[in-house]
Amino acid sequence: MSGGPRPWLDTASAAASGTTPSAGAAGATETAGATTSTERDRKAEHIDLALDRRTQADHRYFDEWVFEHQAAPELDRAEIDTSVEFLGRKIGAPLLVSCMTGGTEGAYRINTNLALAAEARNLPVGVGSQRKTLEDGSHRETFQIREAAPTVPLLANLGAVQLNYGFGIEECRAAVEMISADALVFHLNPLQEAIQPEGQTDFSGLIEKMGAIAAELEVPVIVKEVGSGISGDLARALVAVGIGIIDTAGQGGTSWARIEARRAGDLEIGELFADWGIPTPDSIRAVADIPGVTVIGSGGLRNGLDVAKAIALGADLTGMAYPFLEAATEAPESVVARIDRIVQELEIVMLCVGARTIEDLKRTTLYRRPRPWGR
Ligand code: FNR
Repeated sequence: MSGGPRPWLDTASAAASGTTPSAGAAGATETAGATTSTERDRKAEHIDLALDRRTQADHRYFDEWVFEHQAAPELDRAEIDTSVEFLGRKIGAPLLVSCMTGGTEGAYRINTNLALAAEARNLPVGVGSQRKTLEDGSHRETFQIREAAPTVPLLANLGAVQLNYGFGIEECRAAVEMISADALVFHLNPLQEAIQPEGQTDFSGLIEKMGAIAAELEVPVIVKEVGSGISGDLARALVAVGIGIIDTAGQGGTSWARIEARRAGDLEIGELFADWGIPTPDSIRAVADIPGVTVIGSGGLRNGLDVAKAIALGADLTGMAYPFLEAATEAPESVVARIDRIVQELEIVMLCVGARTIEDLKRTTLYRRPRPWGR
């Protein structure tokens, strides 16, 4: 551990400004400190704060897991096939560009760069919450990525909690139609909403309501968290109401407690809840135990080795947000380079464990070692 960023050792000096310059987030230089103005551009602040490494979780839960090396894998690397099926299409690797943004000026560039790269590498890509645009029609163009990604699966996105604040099947259809999406993602984010200054916190009855939408909507519904994980019990309840695709978005990566605490000017509450949630490997194992569920393993995956571990723990495919964000503020080529690196790392693992296909990788055993931080 030399030379690399060690955010947990940084002082909190930048917390007062709470911002990191980001090429894509025009108008996002506003101070994200104690101001409570409702006029603030929440989406731009989210991008800026998410780019700051200090809003990442402290622990890398995937480091607890190791593969057994196969010195004689009896495999030619050229034979390795990372493709999988998702939403009825064959995609290049078990990797989804997780839902992030839209609805603010800089988001158009980020979403377009993500979409162009996803199309170039035949991977699915999601957009961030479409709520505000559906409510007031603003910044609709920032979600228009179908032109940049004509053939890959696109995921629309809404907060499930909106189902308690006036949204129903019409708004869900409109979100899907806005981007010609192949699926609608509902995100569950009680921790984020509870810390967010302007958060909406009536989470009652949402499982039934998501099930009702899933029954009516023309495309599949996916349910995800945003960094605190999905438990086995919740996954079973979701399956019982007809939801068959679950994205763990577990603890170990982007910390929405830290991001929203900075926006609220209350760093203390962010630190108290920074480690809240189900570690992604645990969430993947719990959800993968349920027969028939398509499991997207996400939350804190940072490289192709993490992808391989998530698959071996039971995920069908994986997702990443933060690892693509900075590249997406730059250029599509930067995002493509990140994807290629991740796939290269995944292929190295597959060779070294003797897995020719993703199905082979799923059957590969992982071993758990004690938590490096000793608890
Ligand atoms: C997100 N995430 C997110 N998720 C969602 O369902 N709707 C959204 O609008 C957003 N917005 C958003 C903005 C930014 C800037 C980031 C970085 C992330 C959450 C994301 O999809 C993912 O679940 C978490 O970030 C955890 O994955 P990583 O970042 O640890 O790979």
